[in-house]
Amino acid sequence: MADNVAPYNKSINFAEKLSKFNDHWSPKVIAEMNDYQFKLVKVLGDFVWHKHDDTDETFIILDGSMRIDYRDHIVELSQGELCVVKKGDEHKPFAEVECSILLIEPKGVVNTGDATEDTKNLTAANDAWI
Ligand code: NI
Repeated sequence: MADNVAPYNKSINFAEKLSKFNDHWSPKVIAEMNDYQFKLVKVLGDFVWHKHDDTDETFIILDGSMRIDYRDHIVELSQGELCVVKKGDEHKPFAEVECSILLIEPKGVVNTGDATEDTKNLTAANDAWI
């Protein structure tokens, strides 16, 4: 969105927004609510281990399936399910086939969190509106 003004009081269609991009692990902002953003992201393959020390983050699966690895267990997620990753907990998303996700988190969250290992260039720019 050119002017970066958040859309209010209108319908926002997930399928239409998802049709606008094909890159992976690069969240696109579609709406804001107070200090939170709603972001669409397509994922495929392995992400990096990381955590977010200042915030929880919510994954809502719109299409496909994925899993979130934690240090002591794995959460499998399919279309129609959500998972809230707790602040400070290390996690690593993984998708065997492409999965489309709605992320809900505060503005300014870095997708690779605190990762200091090789992030495989997966750190995405913030405030990428579509
Ligand atoms: Ni995360």
